[in-house]
Formats: sequence, structure tokens, C-alpha cells
Amino acid sequence: MRGIVDIHCHILPGVDDGAVTERMAVEMIRMEKEQGVNRIILTPHYRVGVFETEQEVITRRFKRLCEINKKTKTGMELYLGCEFHRASAMTDKLQQGIRPTMDGSRYVLVEFSHRDEYVRIRKTVYELIIKGWIPIIAHGERYPSLMENLDRIEEVLRLGAKLQITAGAVYGQHGFRYKRICKKLMSEDLVHFIATDAHDLKNRAPDLGRCAEYIERKKGPVYTRRILVDNPGMILAERIKRYE
Ligand SMILES: [Fe+2]
Repeated sequence: MRGIVDIHCHILPGVDDGAVTERMAVEMIRMEKEQGVNRIILTPHYRVGVFETEQEVITRRFKRLCEINKKTKTGMELYLGCEFHRASAMTDKLQQGIRPTMDGSRYVLVEFSHRDEYVRIRKTVYELIIKGWIPIIAHGERYPSLMENLDRIEEVLRLGAKLQITAGAVYGQHGFRYKRICKKLMSEDLVHFIATDAHDLKNRAPDLGRCAEYIERKKGPVYTRRILVDNPGMILAERIKRYE
């Protein structure tokens, strides 16, 4: 499948636990291209006390990577976002522009701690929504308190959240348990996005093409296109300002 958009990855080099060098980043971009991706939203981690690279540094590295990307003619379009670990002052930080949303849109990629209780997830989602943001729950398959019960997932989606799951989890790279969760989520039509969460060239490498083949076989081309091309395309179409 062509025209895939990857909305969650750690390809921007030297800012979190993803790509280490610019060379590695370019290799990852090439790998994404081979997988049928032509647009990527780079989403460095932001987590207080763990990943706190200054936004100014991130923006500078992003601009530099865009230049290298152009020079090396990868044919990839790059956009900047952020994987925001939930925090109490999150809405303020977004409002003040301390950390970016997904390409300047209203969409915010939100990561939770694995052991967060459902009430906390729900509260975070609710607070973002009442302030006008659209939370995308990052790698939703990983949170036991949310996955425990389909009613909970339906509840946060009814509030207005979107759900992203991980490509590797969908086709079984992360084990049978996650594969089964993803299958259930897709069969109940609770998934909005599937993304790589790629961190490197080997263990957590770009794999959306492989995932697309798998979903196409299981769910058909219409569903696959909706999740991998059309839905993420809506984030970019919603753009308020470009980071270029
Ligand atoms: Fe991530």
C-alpha cells in the first residue's frame, strides 16, 4: 500500500531514546519509504524527569533533518509532533506552546504509564478535551486498566479521544497477547491509527508495510486505507502552522 502516514516514531536523532545519529535517522526514513510510507510525524518523547530535551533543540534538529532529508532525496515529507507523557500541567504546557501538538493541529499524542489506573487515563483525556485538544492515546494496547474492559475504551472514545495501536503488536511481533488485544480492538472498530513507534533499525524498526499487508489480508483494503492513510491524513489536513 502506498501513501501511508506514520504518526508515531522516534526518528529525530539525539533527542530521546530513538535514533542516535543523523545517519541512522536517514536510514530509518529510507526504511519507512520502502514500507510504503510517504509522510511521517516525528514524535520525540517528552516526559518530565526522563526526556526533557529543550524544545528549541528539538526544533533545530528537526529543521536540520528536513534539510538532510531534502538533500538525500528520500521523497519523504517530515512533520513535527511530540509524544507527551501525561502530566498534571499538560494543558498549560500545550496552551503556552512549550511542547508542540501533532504538526500544530489540535491532536495531541498522549502516553500513559503502564500502571496508570483507568480513572487517571479518563481524567487526562477529559481535561484535554474540555480545553479543545484531541487526545490520541499512544500505543493503547499496552495499558491493562484500559484494555481490561471494552466499555472503558468506548467511554474515552465517546469523550472524544482517538486510539493508536502499534504496528508490531498488530501482526504479532510483540507476542500473542497483544496480537489478540489488537484483533479485538479492530474487530470492534475502536482503532483510529496504527503507527510504528519505531526507535531503531532493528528491534523497533519501521514496519508499517508489513503491518499493512497483514491488515489487508484480515480486514480488506478499505479498512486498511482508512486506518493507515485517511485517518492520519486528517491530522495533517488540520494543520494550523507548519514547523518548517
Ligand atoms: Fe513512542
